[in-house]
Amino acid sequence: MKKDKFIIQGLGNNNFLSGKIRVNGAKNAVLPVMASSVLFKDGFGVKNVPFIEDLNRLDEILKGLGIEMKKEKEGEYFINTKGINGVEIDEEASKRMRASVIFTGPILARFGELVFPHPGGCVIGARPIDLFLDGFEKMGAKIEHSDGKYSIKAKDGRLKGANIFFKIPSVTATETFIMAGILAEGKTTLKNVAIEPEIISLIEWLNSCGAKIKGVGTPVLEIEGGVLLEAGDKIYETIADRLETGSFLILGALCASDLEIYNCNPAHLEIITEMLKDSGVDMQVGKDFIKVNNKNLKNYKAFNIKTHEYPGFPTDLQSPMTVFLTQAQGESLIFETIFEGRLNYTSDLVKMGADIKMWDAHRVTVKGPNQLKGRELEGPDIRTGFAFVIASLVAEKESVITNVYYIDRGYGSIEKRLSGIGADIKRVEN
Ligand code: UD1
Repeated sequence: MKKDKFIIQGLGNNNFLSGKIRVNGAKNAVLPVMASSVLFKDGFGVKNVPFIEDLNRLDEILKGLGIEMKKEKEGEYFINTKGINGVEIDEEASKRMRASVIFTGPILARFGELVFPHPGGCVIGARPIDLFLDGFEKMGAKIEHSDGKYSIKAKDGRLKGANIFFKIPSVTATETFIMAGILAEGKTTLKNVAIEPEIISLIEWLNSCGAKIKGVGTPVLEIEGGVLLEAGDKIYETIADRLETGSFLILGALCASDLEIYNCNPAHLEIITEMLKDSGVDMQVGKDFIKVNNKNLKNYKAFNIKTHEYPGFPTDLQSPMTVFLTQAQGESLIFETIFEGRLNYTSDLVKMGADIKMWDAHRVTVKGPNQLKGRELEGPDIRTGFAFVIASLVAEKESVITNVYYIDRGYGSIEKRLSGIGADIKRVEN
């Protein structure tokens, strides 16, 4: 694994960023759509694909299954499923990317068998896979676990439609069982599903290629199992990354004299725009852009956050928003309800000068504002890596962020894009 560093000169509230920054296609949309190729008898094109590290992991997994991901031009790929034959998810890629688990459903549904390791990924909590294992059992599969690998076999070689209630509306479990249901025998009903925009986009894509999924956007989905999907000449256009949009918006609210975030979909981000506006942030929200500046920075009001499934406050924007709150007037409570390890980074913000008190694994309070000071930082996950970039830019003096691999997993060529709006950020290759 590469161990690059970022060296960032803090703006210290003196110099500001300005210009335009483009939002890339959503990582969390492109991963399940590429995994859905396992359900297809032909191949398909994918547009607006972000160039991120996770794409390399995806390529490794697809290759292992005999599927080719061919780059046509920047941001455009063709997924060729002609040689599909594998039933095992690449171990190394899986250890580095939790979303590899999305492949379990389509592989098991297509081939009736599957081998995969316990997936790894961001260090944000236990991240169990019980919902996946329980669901496969309900669909008539038998599971064996030995030497750190799961071997799963469908009874009589084919999954059976089932009634599955998710105790937690998990994003990847919802996506996995939608895809499993498509090739299962009979009807699958999924209850208490997640309704993130990336899931809606996946369902629309699958339905456009012959899937029969009803209840789109509601907590109950019904899937009529059938035959392999066919794309014909259809191309999947990746939706804009709402998490990247939110990250840039928070950055702009703190550090920009004038920033335009474009190629985005603000409708997927209302919780963030509403909260920031109430706090005093000056912004203009268009159909596919947001203009933001930090002219009211000295008067931002503190507010509380409780992370929640969509359309509530996204856990992925909790750490960038916590950095925002270190600069707001008053006390904020941050209640992380989804992952239990996702507040540990706050001890680094404290070392930078933030006034943050941790009450338990799920709650911290932040008192602001406090001037942050640059230091050496090591982000534990994709979004906190970017939160540290924001904190480093807000701070006085220089910061060094050491494990840039995590940031690269979700934010393509970020140093180039941030340099383009005036940030002093350099990559040191290691
Ligand atoms: C997805 C997103 C990630 C985001 C997260 C929550 C992708 C590729 N990743 O991750 O960016 O942070 O949603 O919005 O889309 N859980 C169980 N058992 C399981 C599965 C999950 O208990 O079998 C729990 C998790 O520990 C967590 C909660 O369910 O507490 C929600 O996690 P989940 O929605 O599954 O997250 P991911 O799909 O991994």
